[in-house]
Amino acid sequence: MDSDSVSGNTVAQIGPAAGGAGAADSPQRQGRWRRYHAAVNGLTEYWYPASLAKTVRRKKKHVQRIASHDILFIFDNDKFFAVINECPHRLVPLSLGSLEFPGHIACGYHGWVFDLASGNLVAALSDGPDSPVVGKACVRTFPVEERAGVLWVWVGEGKPVPVEHDIPEELLRPNAVIFPLLRQVKGNWRYAGENGFDEAHVKVLHRTALWTFFRGIAAWNTTRITTSDDGKWINRFQEAVHLDDDYPGIGRWPKAKFWQRANSGKPRTVYGSSDHCVSIRLPCMLRVKQPGTADWTHYDWYTPVDADNYLYLALAVSWRRNPLKIFAWWFRFWSYILVIHHYWFNGQDLHIVGAMPESSPVRMFRPDVSIFAWRKLVEEYAREPNRPQKTLPPNRDFMTLDRDKAA
Ligand code: FES
Ligand SMILES: [Fe+2]
Repeated sequence: MDSDSVSGNTVAQIGPAAGGAGAADSPQRQGRWRRYHAAVNGLTEYWYPASLAKTVRRKKKHVQRIASHDILFIFDNDKFFAVINECPHRLVPLSLGSLEFPGHIACGYHGWVFDLASGNLVAALSDGPDSPVVGKACVRTFPVEERAGVLWVWVGEGKPVPVEHDIPEELLRPNAVIFPLLRQVKGNWRYAGENGFDEAHVKVLHRTALWTFFRGIAAWNTTRITTSDDGKWINRFQEAVHLDDDYPGIGRWPKAKFWQRANSGKPRTVYGSSDHCVSIRLPCMLRVKQPGTADWTHYDWYTPVDADNYLYLALAVSWRRNPLKIFAWWFRFWSYILVIHHYWFNGQDLHIVGAMPESSPVRMFRPDVSIFAWRKLVEEYAREPNRPQKTLPPNRDFMTLDRDKAA
């Protein structure tokens, strides 16, 4: 069984060194989560969503920082290109240049002209057609692909894997009706991942969101974390869900609201199913299957921009062919999902992640098993340059919690 137990002993390993959570050089930071902490600017050897394709198509030139690279995305000659946004002559941004030669970018300062596909310098306009510098300089290029209305960029040193390896296959089906929302926000991408997969914050932070107002969020639950059948995701399932409970010394929580089911006066427990499942996969992608008859799925990507910012891409997706049903989905998205779910509910997450310093939980508590499962995924399974990728065994327990020892 490829599972990892989170127990009291493990807590001692994952907590910060005595002296504070921010001990940047503590053995813990160098030890168990070494790769995780080193990836503060993002993992390499992955395809990342960098922009909506329609944005680059419209603007022709679009600059976006990804994993600390300033990348210039270009739509020219009916094709997408990506190059580093820096002319090798005097380092001015190539985005200030022109696309007057199809398939090329001409720097706006002295007219060095680069082939967009290869990055090679093919002319230096202000030095004449026989300029000897031609062929002796280049700009870095990045592979780009358009899928599902999104522009994907490969950030890595090794040979790119097919882009389809880094996009859930269900998003590429012809009947996927996708509504995207892309924002650059404050915070580190790793903590956005932790927050997305975090079990406990929903019980507290999101209790005030209109999205959950009529649903009655549980007080607490036990959790099971498994790997998916396709070996791409880790899944978090709610097991025993305690809708409310008695807390010694302070009383019952949460208080029942009159429009929710009448409180019987006893703690109420229900048992979760796989119907509502939250999953996360590398490099930074979350999936939330909406429960019941909602018939749509929410996806998040937390593309690293740099240590302090990330690109937050949210996709609301439903799979349908019937034009009336497509219209109904369109109406639902624009009439309430966009505002109540994306801006209000997810806005609470963005606010917290933006306020979170570089940290590990100072004192772990049991629901943090989900956070450590995400860290384990990055630490042990993320791709590395020029190394075979360790594959995730499908359909197994991934991380278990020894509830008697964890504290
Ligand atoms: S800075 Fe680009 S050509 Fe001189
Ligand atoms: Fe959240």
